[in-house]
Amino acid sequence: MTLPHAVKIVEVGPRDGLQNEKEFVPTEVKIELINRLSAAGFRNIEAASFVSPKWVPQMADGAEVMAEIERAAGTVYSVLTPNLRGFESAQAASADEVVIFGSASEAFSQKNINCSIAQSIERFAPVVQAAQATGLRVRGSVSCALGCPYQGEVPVAAVVDVVERFAALGCDEIDIADTIGVGTPGRTQAVFHAVSQVFPRERLSGHFHDTYGQALVNIYAALQAGIEIFHASVAGLGGCPYAKGATGNVATEDVLYLMHGLGITTGVDLNAVVAAGDFISTAIGRPNVSRAGKALLARVRNEAGANP
Ligand code: HMG
Ligand code: MG
Repeated sequence: MTLPHAVKIVEVGPRDGLQNEKEFVPTEVKIELINRLSAAGFRNIEAASFVSPKWVPQMADGAEVMAEIERAAGTVYSVLTPNLRGFESAQAASADEVVIFGSASEAFSQKNINCSIAQSIERFAPVVQAAQATGLRVRGSVSCALGCPYQGEVPVAAVVDVVERFAALGCDEIDIADTIGVGTPGRTQAVFHAVSQVFPRERLSGHFHDTYGQALVNIYAALQAGIEIFHASVAGLGGCPYAKGATGNVATEDVLYLMHGLGITTGVDLNAVVAAGDFISTAIGRPNVSRAGKALLARVRNEAGANP
């Protein structure tokens, strides 16, 4: 299959990237990060979670974050909503899109949202209905699509099953998530080919964590399978609180470098994202793990040193 001319990059750093930080990231830092990402040109930013603050304390200030960010016209600001209570908060915060998040693994479903896959679908149904009634977009995220930290191997059929259930609920977009970054390209393509049989390929996205260093090659494999939406996290921030040892999402700077090198349009200013990655890494005292981000920062600093 020929590669697409353009892709949508969903920036998930402010949510997936920051949710696992042990020290509370000040609300104004989260807001500045999102403002910088909005200015960089993303069409979709995952900005907050309306989950239990007991489960994920880092995301407890979602309402404030959503109230104070400067929204770019045309950018979709998404929030995670595990239940109707989360949906009500999302609506009050004027989110553009709500994200329901389930799993292809029973064990992970229990650990992450404290219920079975079937119970989670029952819980999501009224969320989707409420979103549709108020004109909000709905995205469904399928965790552990390429492996589970608790049960190990996850059959392709289990992923297809959850995608079918999300499709029946009425999701506008569905994410195939490699929560713990164990996938490899062959498996990635097998999963995307299988789920493309039950949901339109152009509304499927790839959400890759980089634990085993496979994220970029999996993205390339997914591009070859016809996928045109990818998630990434600035500076490679992140990890899931319920998937011990899993590292961050693939770094946005690396994905942009790959796409632009392939002649694929993203609409995003790579240099602005590199600066945002430097800002957030410095602000939270974390190493920047984006290879392209670090290389481009070094180049800018060298040039500044050479031409003071
Ligand atoms: P529970 O304990 O089974 O449910 O949690 P509950 O209804 O008994 O609620 C527990 C407490 O939370 C109660 O408070 C509720 O009021 C409160 P208490 O009475 O004890 O004081 N509560 C809420 N508060 C605020 N907003 C809400 C909300 N709901 C309940 N919406 C629940 C079930 C789903 C709430 C919980 O398990 C939870 O919040 N889980 C969130 C887990 C999470 O955020 N994980 C990370 C995101 S998923 C991810 O990162 C994967 C992804 O990136 C893709 C990938 O890589 O795989 C998307
Ligand atoms: Mg994730």
